[in-house]
Amino acid sequence: MNKYNSLFHENRYVAYICRKNIKMAQINENYLKLQAGYLFPEIGRRVREFQKENPHADVIKMGIGDVTLPLTPTVIQAFHEGVEEMSKAGTFKGYGPEQGYAFLREAISMNEYINRGADIHADEIFVSDGSKCDTGNMLEIFGQDNIIAIQDPVYPVYVDASVMAGRTGKYTKSGYYDGLVYMPCSAENGFIPEIPKKKVDIVFLCFPNNPTGSTVSKQELKNWVDYALKNKTIILFDAAYESYISDPDLPHTIYEIEGAKEVAIEFRSFSKTAGFTGTRCAYTVIPKNLMAYTSDGAGMALHPLWFRRHTTKFNGVSYPVQKAAAATFTAEGKKEVKATISYYMNNARILRESLDKMGFRVFGGQNAPYVWVNSGRNISSWDLFDKLLHEAYVVGTPGSGFGPSGEGYFRFSSFATHENVVKAMDRLKNLKW
Ligand code: MLT
Repeated sequence: MNKYNSLFHENRYVAYICRKNIKMAQINENYLKLQAGYLFPEIGRRVREFQKENPHADVIKMGIGDVTLPLTPTVIQAFHEGVEEMSKAGTFKGYGPEQGYAFLREAISMNEYINRGADIHADEIFVSDGSKCDTGNMLEIFGQDNIIAIQDPVYPVYVDASVMAGRTGKYTKSGYYDGLVYMPCSAENGFIPEIPKKKVDIVFLCFPNNPTGSTVSKQELKNWVDYALKNKTIILFDAAYESYISDPDLPHTIYEIEGAKEVAIEFRSFSKTAGFTGTRCAYTVIPKNLMAYTSDGAGMALHPLWFRRHTTKFNGVSYPVQKAAAATFTAEGKKEVKATISYYMNNARILRESLDKMGFRVFGGQNAPYVWVNSGRNISSWDLFDKLLHEAYVVGTPGSGFGPSGEGYFRFSSFATHENVVKAMDRLKNLKW
């Protein structure tokens, strides 16, 4: 048993002690099915432990996909203006619309959808403080018995949120949760999952993919939309990394595909696009004509359900933050976003080329900020993590943290500074295997 799991055993011990006493409030026991702490805090814990023992080690972090470039001048100016408005009685704002200010939703609709030929309107957009929360919380508006399909490997929030919400069975020794449909993504299938043979009710798709950096073509996405239309499946499409797409033939939004408005919810974020990881602003699109069904088969629009959930449990993103987000759609803001993305994609290129020369099998990093590698050296993902941390002071993310099919793989994030990417690759060249 590793330290990672011991928390859960401690919990059981506490539960045992309490049972001998009086009956108390009960916990959501689905949480006890979770196998580990959330991936990124666990990486943080290991790094902190290492740094405590090696205070002089200059650790380079390319684990969690956290941005390093500051907010751009246009965004900062709008942010300041928003704060200034809050300081004066005449322009001060209290609670805003839970769904987001119209100026931001209209800018999103025009720039991200209408201009791409996707017919998504401002009133179908919900501004929020993060796609992580939205993808996790979205399960609340779906029935308990839905069968959920998930790419493997993938951003761990989808699996963990499904477990917490009681949508899975037990964790099995082979590393899978009963009840979830895993769709293996490997080098053999280009990290694009096959459409499930059996009917599933909800499918999480993430493209450009975190962690593999794979992308989906219009035809492949159309196959998913057709499957969903035929099976009355809902696609939860996480497009948080769409701004890293440079190939003009790839779709940026699922709504570029005909019929998608009837089957898909899309999640987008300003985090990786415009450096908002610490500022927090994202949005979710639920088309007005997207339907799911009651247990007796009556069609119900999902938009009002999420609207009810959002307005009940969320009070909106702060006004200055929404102003700052809207500034990314001005002409100057767009130029700055483009420059930020080029900076990180140059890092991705350096990672790809350097790791390839070192004999890694390299994937992703071309239309996505993540570079996914296989060391080809018969070393587990976590052992490679420890080796890189201890011998090169370089932090990445073990592939197995994204699902069983990620074992043997490793993810590098290109969101580090250019200098650190170059330095890290220099150190890795000298590793002894
Ligand atoms: C990642 O590293 O996978 C992401 O940064 C995590 C996130 O966006 O929550």
